[in-house]
Amino acid sequence: MTGKPLTILGIETSCDETAASVVRGCAPGPGEILSNIVFSQTEAHAPYGGVVPEIASRAHLEILDGVIEQALAEANITLAALDGIAATAGPGLVGGVMVGLTTAKALALASGKPLIAVNHLMGHALTARLTHGVDYPFLLLLVSGGHCQLLGVGGTDDFRLYGSTIDDAVGEAFDKTAKILGLPYPGGPEVEQAAKAGNAKAYALPRPLVTGHNARKSADFSFSGLKTALRQLVENEAVSIPDASASFQAAVIDILTDRTAIAMQRFRTDFPDGNTLVVAGGVAANQAIGAALGRLCAAEGFVLRVPPPRLCTDNAAMIAWAGVERMASGAGDALDISPRARWPLSN
Ligand code: KG4
Ligand code: ZN
Repeated sequence: MTGKPLTILGIETSCDETAASVVRGCAPGPGEILSNIVFSQTEAHAPYGGVVPEIASRAHLEILDGVIEQALAEANITLAALDGIAATAGPGLVGGVMVGLTTAKALALASGKPLIAVNHLMGHALTARLTHGVDYPFLLLLVSGGHCQLLGVGGTDDFRLYGSTIDDAVGEAFDKTAKILGLPYPGGPEVEQAAKAGNAKAYALPRPLVTGHNARKSADFSFSGLKTALRQLVENEAVSIPDASASFQAAVIDILTDRTAIAMQRFRTDFPDGNTLVVAGGVAANQAIGAALGRLCAAEGFVLRVPPPRLCTDNAAMIAWAGVERMASGAGDALDISPRARWPLSN
């Protein structure tokens, strides 16, 4: 590690997790997670089969103060001893983002500490530096409920987009599939669990953009055709849930590995010395996807880095860490910064 270690409080409220964490470290990592409190609102949203924005912002408002107090207490640290306060400023559900960002502004103002507004996607992207001290550059496969992208990452302000989804995000495809199959929300872990007992060849499902007449030699993703095929299957016959889950997951794996292989070629052109693939976002918690990407990396001469599942899904340690990196590179934000519903990592 180089430079002086920074101790940062991170706050995350962009979706349905209310989270606060204290992290200490310096680039390139690894960092030390002094506390990592995640309060999941899953139960509040489960009856609706997805996140309800109004319920989410109200819940953030009710519990965030307590979650922050707990994060500071567990880290055994006071506000005065922090180097800065980082909060997700987008992208995400703007009502929730506003709750976290406003709280961070109030804390920054009261304590006289700098505010660092963090892009949620950068939080996911840099987690492998927090956990493994991964050096730049690396190829990033970002797979979450709201995002599905392949990016070359050369530094905190160097993100090159190689591919993104033209319709659903992969986590969304898992959640919709679970709904079609009658499995509970959130669907990713449920589908993965059901797939373990299933036959992946039981049903022939499409691999949009990868095979067939409109196959594309790009790194873009498409999942809506897969979801539609599954819905039609369920409407037409009595399907086995394990077999349908396994067949769906196999299709997702084929799509992800095919697109990642294409992005690896582009990454090699941009960064001839780079050979690390980082997988981030909630779907990175999926062991079958991780194993398939491991095989791809072995074949292509890449090293695979996947943060542990509790740091793949939404959390505030990743926001605190992004705060560490941004503050170390001189960044700080004015207290009048606004939340952003949309905020791409690259243009
Ligand atoms: O990163 P994340 O916690 O929230 C967003 O920023 O979107 O990702 C949540 C998504 C959900 O769609 C969830 O179903 C999916 O990640 N997910 C999984 C698994 N665990 C979570 N998908 C597949 N397999 C899993 N084991
Ligand atoms: Zn996320």
